[in-house]
Amino acid sequence: MTSTDLAAPLRDALDAADFTYDAVAALLGDDAHRALSRNETAPARRRTGGDGSALATLIRLFLLQDAVEREAVEAALPGLVDRLGAAGVLLTGVGEVAARLDCRPYATAEGDDLWVVSDLTPGLDGAPTSVSSDYVLGISQASSSLAQLTLRDDVATALDLGTGCGVQALHLAAHSDRVVGTDVNARALAIARFNAALNELDDKIEIRDGSFFEPVARQRFDLIATNPPFVISPATGERLVYRDSGLPGDRVVEHIVRTAPEHLNDGGWCQILANWVIEEGRGWDERLAAWLPEECDAFVVQREILDPASYVELWLKDSGHHPSTGAGSAADYLRRYDTWLSWLTEQRVAGIGFGWINLHRSGRAGAPRTELLEWPYDVEQPIAPAIGAWAGQRAAAAEVTEADRLRVRADVVQETQGPVGAEDPATIVVRQQAGLRRARQADTVTAAVVGACDGDLSVGQILDAVGELLERDAATLREVYLPEIADLVAEGFLQR
Ligand SMILES: C[S@@+](CC[C@H](N)C(=O)[O-])C[C@H]1O[C@@H](n2cnc3c(N)ncnc32)[C@H](O)[C@@H]1O
Repeated sequence: MTSTDLAAPLRDALDAADFTYDAVAALLGDDAHRALSRNETAPARRRTGGDGSALATLIRLFLLQDAVEREAVEAALPGLVDRLGAAGVLLTGVGEVAARLDCRPYATAEGDDLWVVSDLTPGLDGAPTSVSSDYVLGISQASSSLAQLTLRDDVATALDLGTGCGVQALHLAAHSDRVVGTDVNARALAIARFNAALNELDDKIEIRDGSFFEPVARQRFDLIATNPPFVISPATGERLVYRDSGLPGDRVVEHIVRTAPEHLNDGGWCQILANWVIEEGRGWDERLAAWLPEECDAFVVQREILDPASYVELWLKDSGHHPSTGAGSAADYLRRYDTWLSWLTEQRVAGIGFGWINLHRSGRAGAPRTELLEWPYDVEQPIAPAIGAWAGQRAAAAEVTEADRLRVRADVVQETQGPVGAEDPATIVVRQQAGLRRARQADTVTAAVVGACDGDLSVGQILDAVGELLERDAATLREVYLPEIADLVAEGFLQR
């Protein structure tokens, strides 16, 4: 896939066929669309069989990976079949044509309709998964997760490290003047360049060949978004470049975290989707905290933990090495499983954390603000606005005084629990319904203070009133509850 000259005519054909996310969803209907997201094609084939439209043809060709009558494909992609065959997008026979690459519509949360070319989705209808070492991943759960994490404020410059098919670069181009994507996989570089051209974003997106930050030496950006090859493995044996960095353990994530500040402008953010090692006998956040650069505030959120065995199983299935997902034998699977697991054991890996690392080069003098939060609960998506707000909340919390007039955030509710019929609740929880949906246990004073924060009375006046009501000493209340109120501001429950 090299010819970007094909991008313009292909775009015209996809456009003419109305090959958009919404049109595909409408033609397939909910059930078939959901089945396809589970890699099951049978319901979608029933919905597209008799139609004969260009849209149905493109769905069968690219999304169902069917061999389609050449005449129908010629009608859907007029004058392009042989050219797409020569470019490696299609496999052309005398009477039939099949896809060699995936091409699918993609609707972003920001409201853009895009097309994304990548390698074919493996394992449709239970077929054995087999991925080559230079496989170029399409839009995965991880890509969507990073897309939802990425701040979408307008910026001048953005960097997508490990661009793959270029999906993050395409997102970034919607709100950045210039985007650079880097990768080491020649096939990914070609596909990302093609996707930039296909979406008429090649004037903004530049794809550079090289490892991580090497192609952007001495360059700084306002935003770095990266879904790096973070799988934690012994880095021996064959390497699947889309997920293995070639570095052992979580060294790749450490490298990005430590190097990012050199490539950030003041005010810039680096957002990383990552896996990290949780070492035996150490808190999950200890190793991570040691990587965090002094120049940056850091908000790290651990979303999930897998034990080593589950982790090995997950990734061996992903690459088709489990006999149920691939063509490999049980003996080969067991050998790989044992090698990987014994390496994790030798490295004293107790678990593997999945989550988000957000670095903000604030440009402020003084100690960096950091929060390492374990938050495996459901959050509002896209989560990016809550991440952006975090920096402001931490800044506001650092300055809370009793003269402040605070307001409870509109989405915060109070939940109480206790024995049936009891006059007072046993526990009170204040809970956000938006953003990170943080929850915090509160005592009667905290709950009363939060409830009274409507922007009229100062914190001091509220504490005095609560003290009087509960017959508590005013000075003691200030000493105990001002830090608590600052925490509530830092976590976004209370605002100025
Ligand atoms: C998990 S994929 C992410 C692809 C895409 N950015 C996304 O969000 O879906 C990781 C990408 O990093 C690339 N990669 C692997 N090693 C790299 C390196 N040393 N430098 C830059 N990119 C690398 C892989 O080729 C792959 O495209």
